[in-house]
Amino acid sequence: MADVVVVGSGIAGLFVATRCARAGLSTLVVTKKNLSDSSTNWAQGGIAAAMSKTDYEAHIKDTIEAGCGLSDPEIVEMVVREASDRIDDLIASGVQFDSNKDGFDLTIEGGHSSRRILHSKDATGAEIERALIVEARASPNLELLESHMAVDLILKEKTAEIKQISGIWVLTPEGVVETIPAQAIIIAAGGAGQIYHQTTNPSVATGDGIAMAHRAGAKVRDLEFVQFHPTALALSGERPFLISEALRGHGAILMTSENIANWSLIGGEPGPHSFMLNHDSRGSLATRDIVARATDQEMKKTGENCVWLVTSHLDKKEIQERFPTIQARLQNHGLELGGAPLPVAPAAHYMVGGISVDENGLARQCPTCSNEIQYPGLYAIGEVACTGLHGANRLASNSLLEAVVFSNRCAEHVIENISPSENEITLPEWRADGLSTLIEHAPLRSDRIALQSTMTDDVGLVKRDARLQRAQRRLEFLRQEVDRIWRGCLPTQEIVELRNMIHVSRLVTSAAINRKENVGLHYNLDCE
Ligand code: SIN
Repeated sequence: MADVVVVGSGIAGLFVATRCARAGLSTLVVTKKNLSDSSTNWAQGGIAAAMSKTDYEAHIKDTIEAGCGLSDPEIVEMVVREASDRIDDLIASGVQFDSNKDGFDLTIEGGHSSRRILHSKDATGAEIERALIVEARASPNLELLESHMAVDLILKEKTAEIKQISGIWVLTPEGVVETIPAQAIIIAAGGAGQIYHQTTNPSVATGDGIAMAHRAGAKVRDLEFVQFHPTALALSGERPFLISEALRGHGAILMTSENIANWSLIGGEPGPHSFMLNHDSRGSLATRDIVARATDQEMKKTGENCVWLVTSHLDKKEIQERFPTIQARLQNHGLELGGAPLPVAPAAHYMVGGISVDENGLARQCPTCSNEIQYPGLYAIGEVACTGLHGANRLASNSLLEAVVFSNRCAEHVIENISPSENEITLPEWRADGLSTLIEHAPLRSDRIALQSTMTDDVGLVKRDARLQRAQRRLEFLRQEVDRIWRGCLPTQEIVELRNMIHVSRLVTSAAINRKENVGLHYNLDCE
C-alpha cells in the first residue's frame, strides 16, 4: 500500500515522486524497465524557457503560433511564466545546463523567435534523468520498483456517476499481478511512438498510460496530433536515431540530392538551396509539422527514402564538440558531422494528445465523453497528458518544460489534498474470478508488426479517408484477436503492451477520422 503511486520514471514521474515523498507521503514509483528507460533520457535538444520577463510574450506567441491557434492561452501563459522557477528547481536537483561567459548557453530550434533553449550539449534529457535519479534514490518515503508494469487502475464508485481511484494492479517480474492500494495514482508513462514502425522513441513507449486511463473512463483528447520529427537518421536496417533540431538551429540545412548538386555547382554557399524555402520562408527552421510534411512530400517526389541534412559548411570541430552524442552515433556508421550529407527522414516522435487534464494535472472523467467532471485521485503529467499547451503542434523543446511545470503543480495539488494514511484498504484481487480456459500465447510478435504496418501505412503523416477506414477495420480485427488471448492467458509484459498499443492506435485512428479540417499535425488529403 502507498499514499501515492507514480507510473513512469522520466522527468515528470521522478520530479513529482520526490516532491510527494519529501512532504511525508509514502510514494511508490512503478516503471516497467530500468528507471532510466524513458523518453526523457533520449531527449537531445533541450528545454525551452523564457528566463527573462522580456521574453514571456514572445515565448507565448511562438507556442500559440506553432500550435496553429489551438493551444489553451491560459495554460500557455501559465507554463511560460513558471518556466524559470522550474529551471531553478532542476538546477537545485543537480542538473547542469551548459553556460558561457554571458550565462546559459541558449540555443534555438524550429518555430522559436529567439534563443531560449537551455541544454546540456546534445544529451539534455540524459543529464536531467541522471540528476533526478540520484535525487530520487536518496529520497525518504520513496520506493522505486523497476521491472514492474502497471496493468490497470482499480476504481471504486463515489457516486453513481463519479468514480474514484483506489489502487492499481501491477505485473511483477515473476509474472504475478499484485494489487496495490493507493489514494492517488499519477500516470507519467510517456508516449506511444512504438505504434509506428519508425520512431525516435525508446521501446517502452507503448501508450500504456493512455490506454489504462481510457479503459478506466478517463477522457482523452487531441490524439490525432501525432508529431513526426523530420530528421531521424535513415540508414537501411537501422532503427531511426534522432538528429536534434538544435543542429538546424546551429546552421545545418535540409536538402534534396538535386539541391546538393546545384549547390556544389555554385561553390557551396548555404542559404537559398534548401527545398524547405519552397514551403516556408523560415526554411529548415520552420515548425516541425511543416518541415516533416515538406520532407515527406520531397521524398515522394524524388522517390528517395530520405532527404539530406547538410553540415559541411559548418565548423567541424565546433559542431562535433557541441553534439557529441550524435557524432558518436554517426561514427559507428562511418559518417560524421561536418562531413558528407546525412540521410534523414521523418519518424514518429511525440504524442501531442493524451489524457485530458486540468492545470494541476488532475484527469477529467468521461462517462459519456461529453462532460468535464474531474476524476478524483487520478493525475496525468508529461507526454501522456494533454494539457492544452501544444494545440495542434508542439513547439520544439516545450515538452520537458511542460512536464516539469505540471509535475510541480501536480505535487502541490496532491500534497494539499492527501494526508498520509495508515488504514489498510481491501481491494479485489486481479481476475478474482479466475481464467475460464488457458490459451497458449499466439505469435504476438506478428500482431505487433501488423499493428505498426497499419498505423505507418494508413495513419501516418499524410492521411486519406479510405485508408483511415481501412485502419479502423484492421485494428478492430487485431483487437478481437488479442482480446481473446488476453482473457485466457497468463499475463506477460508483451501482451499487456500489445493490448495497450492496439487500444491507443484505435483512439488515434478515430480521432483522425473525426477531425474534418487540416490543422497543424493533422493532414488528410480528403479534407483539402
Ligand atoms: C530535438 O532535439 O530535435 C527534439 C526536441 C524536441 O522534441 O522538443
